Amino acid sequence: NTVGVVGVPFSGGQPREGVDLGPMKIIEFGLLDQMKELGWNVEFDGHRDYNAMRPAQDPPVGKLKNARFVSAVTESVAQSVKGYVEKGSLALTLGGDHSIALGTVSGTMAVHPNAGLIWVDAHADINTPESTESGNIHGCPISFLLGIAGQIKEFSWVKPCLTPDRIVYIGLRDVDAGEKKILRENGIKAFSMHEVDKYGIGKVVEMAVEHVSPGLSRPVHLSFDVDALDPTVAPSTGTPVRGGLTFREGHYICEALHQTGTLVAMDLMEVNPSLEDDQAVYQTVNVGCSLVRCAMGETLL
Ligand code: ARG
Ligand code: MN
Ligand code: MN
Ligand code: MN
Repeated sequence: NTVGVVGVPFSGGQPREGVDLGPMKIIEFGLLDQMKELGWNVEFDGHRDYNAMRPAQDPPVGKLKNARFVSAVTESVAQSVKGYVEKGSLALTLGGDHSIALGTVSGTMAVHPNAGLIWVDAHADINTPESTESGNIHGCPISFLLGIAGQIKEFSWVKPCLTPDRIVYIGLRDVDAGEKKILRENGIKAFSMHEVDKYGIGKVVEMAVEHVSPGLSRPVHLSFDVDALDPTVAPSTGTPVRGGLTFREGHYICEALHQTGTLVAMDLMEVNPSLEDDQAVYQTVNVGCSLVRCAMGETLL
């Protein structure tokens, strides 16, 4: 079993500095050795310098901020992820902000056009260039992947590669009014924190997997935004929202997905080591690494 690690020190999809330091902190914490101890061969091509891709001029495209920069970085990430997935390796991408998933999901779908996407997040990240209030592209990647973002020439490389029936959310609790409308109109399945409370995480994961990969028939891409976890569990992130997943609920998702044997790619996003104090950063990086290990087969017994 080989895992290909893509470190993406990028923060251009949102305004807070420091989320670009996430991948370095996670690697420094020892994640590569931890994965080796679980029996994985680890390929890591080093942290890229995406700053070289920053265009000299990047004025807003409509409301979208840093559109050219985000587009260039995510196109490159898509190539890296595609490369690992087509070799049959698990592609593990460490962010960075969640706009990066525009690249990771495109990369997975280029190899497995029918793959399912499980998006674990407090937020739906499905704003269109029209509906976004913030203009931050980390709130928009799903609309681009679904092809409902309209034609934005700066993102002409992005192919609609996702259909509304192949995505499912877990953990939602801060969804913009425009996003609620998009979710409803497209019939997208979502298990918000309300459903996690109602059914329990075990049943929710079972229903989510069955939705995107009926009978485990399709490969699965897991995109995990660390802000899905409650801020008491993962404080160092740019858009924390109270009432989130417990430590165990987050881990259960990863453990159960590992057990399905369908995981082909995982993203760990929005760890921001410059927010909150050292103890909070340690806690957030620690929990991030432990989520990844569980998705890669670490068990309690
Ligand atoms: N919905 C808000 C927006 O569009 C917040 C998005 C937060 N996304 C994230 N990946 N943390 O700006
Ligand atoms: Mn989020
Ligand atoms: Mn909000
Ligand atoms: Mn997100």
